[in-house]
Amino acid sequence: MKISLKTLSSQAVLRGRTVLVRVDWNVPINGEMQRESSLKIERSIPLLKALRKRGAKVIVLTHVGRPKKRDAKFSTKPLVRLLRETYSLDITYQSESVSNKDQREKLKAKLTKAAVGSVHLLENVRFEKGEETNEKKLAQAYAELGDMFINDAFASCHRAHVSVSGIAKVLPAYAGPALVEEVEALSRLIDKPKGPFVAVIGGLKLSTKLPVIEALCVSCDKVLIGGAMATPFLKAQNAEVGRSVYEKESVPLAKKLLKRKEIKLPSDVVVTQKLTDKPVLRRVPAKQLEKKDMIVDVGPHTLKAWAEIIGSAGTIVWNGPIGLSECAPCGFGSRFMARTIGARAKGKAFGVSGGGDTLPVIHATKTEHQFDFVSTGGGAMLDFIAQKGKLPGLLVLLR
Ligand code: 3PG
Repeated sequence: MKISLKTLSSQAVLRGRTVLVRVDWNVPINGEMQRESSLKIERSIPLLKALRKRGAKVIVLTHVGRPKKRDAKFSTKPLVRLLRETYSLDITYQSESVSNKDQREKLKAKLTKAAVGSVHLLENVRFEKGEETNEKKLAQAYAELGDMFINDAFASCHRAHVSVSGIAKVLPAYAGPALVEEVEALSRLIDKPKGPFVAVIGGLKLSTKLPVIEALCVSCDKVLIGGAMATPFLKAQNAEVGRSVYEKESVPLAKKLLKRKEIKLPSDVVVTQKLTDKPVLRRVPAKQLEKKDMIVDVGPHTLKAWAEIIGSAGTIVWNGPIGLSECAPCGFGSRFMARTIGARAKGKAFGVSGGGDTLPVIHATKTEHQFDFVSTGGGAMLDFIAQKGKLPGLLVLLR
């Protein structure tokens, strides 16, 4: 099944027309920007610059974080400096709330006067009431601002939110080039992937990835689970997990999943009793932890076994660190995974990775170029596989 998305014709006259563009600039914006976090921004720049050149007035929409209410901590304002300094994109921050009629009118007046080729960044879309519940009234309020909508935010396409799917129903809507690139690359994971198909899943929360893991068990031959996500599985087998960080409410879910033959858990792990910059590490069989132990990485026997599985795979997808990668000595397993998958990809296997926490590992190991594709999506990439491409943000853009 080929997913074919509507795209804007290169012949369309854009001079003086206002284009709403959804990007995913959900990146850590305080402190030093990391290259890996900026992949999302980097990929959206060509579209914005092209629209400027064609004389459009561009309104950029993004979410940042998961704010519960309007909160300066999640403002898009600091992005402006980053965009100007790092990406040479002349962009102006507009603080008006789109759902507020008076502020919307003010914004419309500003846009009318704005120069052709100007780019305007609105405040965090998640500050607007109705964004996450996909309220039509909010979509219509956005529609008053522009002539068309372009979604170039693959990493958000699994969200049925106004700025992702709602606006696309009330304005002429198209997929941007970065979105098309993601969909084309990731389609290889759902369209008769070459076997054996291996998924490597790490990270913290099993509960958020559970439906995806269940779906991966159907699509994949093997699903290797590491990181804190593996701990509820050990607990479900009545093993001692010591002081390891894990989601307690996930244990019943893990118990259910243990029945799936595709799931492979670490047979040994690396533990410490005190987490410092230079922790004292021990390797132990996964079911022989002491009460004071904390799992910080998968063990060498596991890595060897997983490397063999990856070494014969035809398709590999990786999301989430398999150890505590923010502590350098505990990130060995994740770095090993990046190198092992990187060595197999581009040729022997089709190898893809993605997700906010995985990108730093790929960057640290300089393996980006070894992967067939590095996706900006974490949850979106996994949902894309699980739902066979039927993400809310894509369904509204189908040809
Ligand atoms: C991501 O970082 O995966 C995307 O920006 C989506 O963010 P969300 O999970 O808060 O919707």
